[in-house]
Amino acid sequence: MSAVIDTHGHAHDHHGGYGGVMRWITTTNHKDIGTLYLWFSFIMFMVGGVMALAIRLELFSPGIQFFNPDLFNQFTTMHGLIMVFGAIMPAFVGFANWQIPMMIGAPDMAFARLNNWSFWLLPFAASLLVISFFTPGGAPGVGWTLYAPLTVQMGVGMDLTIFAVHLLGMSSILGSINIITTILNMRAPGMNLMRMPLFCWTWLITAYLLVAAMPVLAGAVTMSLTDRHFGTSFFNAAGGGDPVLYQHIFWFFGHPEVYIIALPAFGVVSQVIPAFSRKPLFGYASMVYATSAIAILSFIVWAHHMYTVGMPVQGQLFFMYATTLIAIPTGVKVFNWVATMWQGSLTFETPMLFAIGFLFLFTLGGFTGLVLSLVPIDIQLHDTYYVVAHFHYVMVAGALFAAFAGIYFWLPKWTGRMYDETLGKWHFWLTMIFFNITFFVQHFLGLAGMPRRIPDYPLMFESWNKVSSIGAFGFGLAQLLFLYVVLKAIRSGAKAPERPWEGADSLEWTHLPTPVPYHTFETPPVLK
Ligand code: CU
Repeated sequence: MSAVIDTHGHAHDHHGGYGGVMRWITTTNHKDIGTLYLWFSFIMFMVGGVMALAIRLELFSPGIQFFNPDLFNQFTTMHGLIMVFGAIMPAFVGFANWQIPMMIGAPDMAFARLNNWSFWLLPFAASLLVISFFTPGGAPGVGWTLYAPLTVQMGVGMDLTIFAVHLLGMSSILGSINIITTILNMRAPGMNLMRMPLFCWTWLITAYLLVAAMPVLAGAVTMSLTDRHFGTSFFNAAGGGDPVLYQHIFWFFGHPEVYIIALPAFGVVSQVIPAFSRKPLFGYASMVYATSAIAILSFIVWAHHMYTVGMPVQGQLFFMYATTLIAIPTGVKVFNWVATMWQGSLTFETPMLFAIGFLFLFTLGGFTGLVLSLVPIDIQLHDTYYVVAHFHYVMVAGALFAAFAGIYFWLPKWTGRMYDETLGKWHFWLTMIFFNITFFVQHFLGLAGMPRRIPDYPLMFESWNKVSSIGAFGFGLAQLLFLYVVLKAIRSGAKAPERPWEGADSLEWTHLPTPVPYHTFETPPVLK
């Protein structure tokens, strides 16, 4: 149809009613919404990444070079909030939107319009976080955990951050309700729960975690809000409250949050490894039970983040033993992934490289987590760079590597086009190498006693900080290559064959007991 020129001289396209921007604002299509989530996530990844580079720039040398300590703390805070809530979580919700309906044979998500709203809450939340930098006093430089009583002293940027957390929580809860309802009610005939691709299982369990944990975070920040403005003293010792109460409430959310991020990553890896091993996933049922066990245990370990607050030894022992228990179901998973590859006809395209990278580095992050779970060691390492190194192995080499594996794996399915395999492999190796240059050395800094969240440090820490900063900039540049690879694939990639991965595709090797062909579910039965 022809374009219409309005009185301002703008051309309006009238292809089928909604063209351009309006399509994306009003879409209820799960694939569109999945795409929106993924691009939003990438933009936030860039914003949070720029803050990470600002941090590493300042830490390149001892002394204060570029940013005053207050602004430095604002960067560390917003880097954490933006990466966790803006980059990683939306990326996996994007995967869920794209894949779950297709994997279970549903026409769309159960609540298609709610799905639209879940997404469109996010840009407003992200805007609040970014705007807080430009308020009097700036963004709250209190750390992503928003600990009381620091939060009481902050300016209006703190309120914007609290409202942002409310919106992010609403988005996650609504999205989770949608995912649970879709999986429980909209599976195609014959697609019983124990035949679902494991990615659906990990998201089903994650969605329950979100519904249980996000309101707790919302409660914690709301209590901070009323402490700030409405005369309550939940976390104020002078009024009979207790700042440590905030930490208990926060980490009751915060530890399950680790698995909210990790479980969907496990799900992606559990699709990718079987496909490139040309074997069914080893131990499917045990994977489901291990994922459930991790989810349940994640609710009884929260105080391992707070060993140093002065809790009784009995409390420390309980949380230590409960935490070390999580190593068992996690070990089951790692064993199953390795057993899936065992004697498979392996090939090492980019998705598989990222999945194997995940396997090595996430397991390392798990081991340092085990180290930190031990009270006597944690008391030494608490608030040092060892902790920073540990959770970046979980968040970056865990979640981000799995997200890259998923994107390269499903991009041909999503866009109909292949990415450049050579450049994809370059992206993997640069990411792998620079990730370790950045973060492995931070273990040494932490063991030597360098505290986190400081813009300055003694001379003895200089060399490893220089190495880490160089690694960070290399890592950042490598992600521009990723953007180029994706854009090149979308614009001019070769047409993707129906089965890009030499006879294996994302579903065929993951169904039990008999594989259900992917194309059975490719075209939604109704509501195109
Ligand atoms: Cu934890």
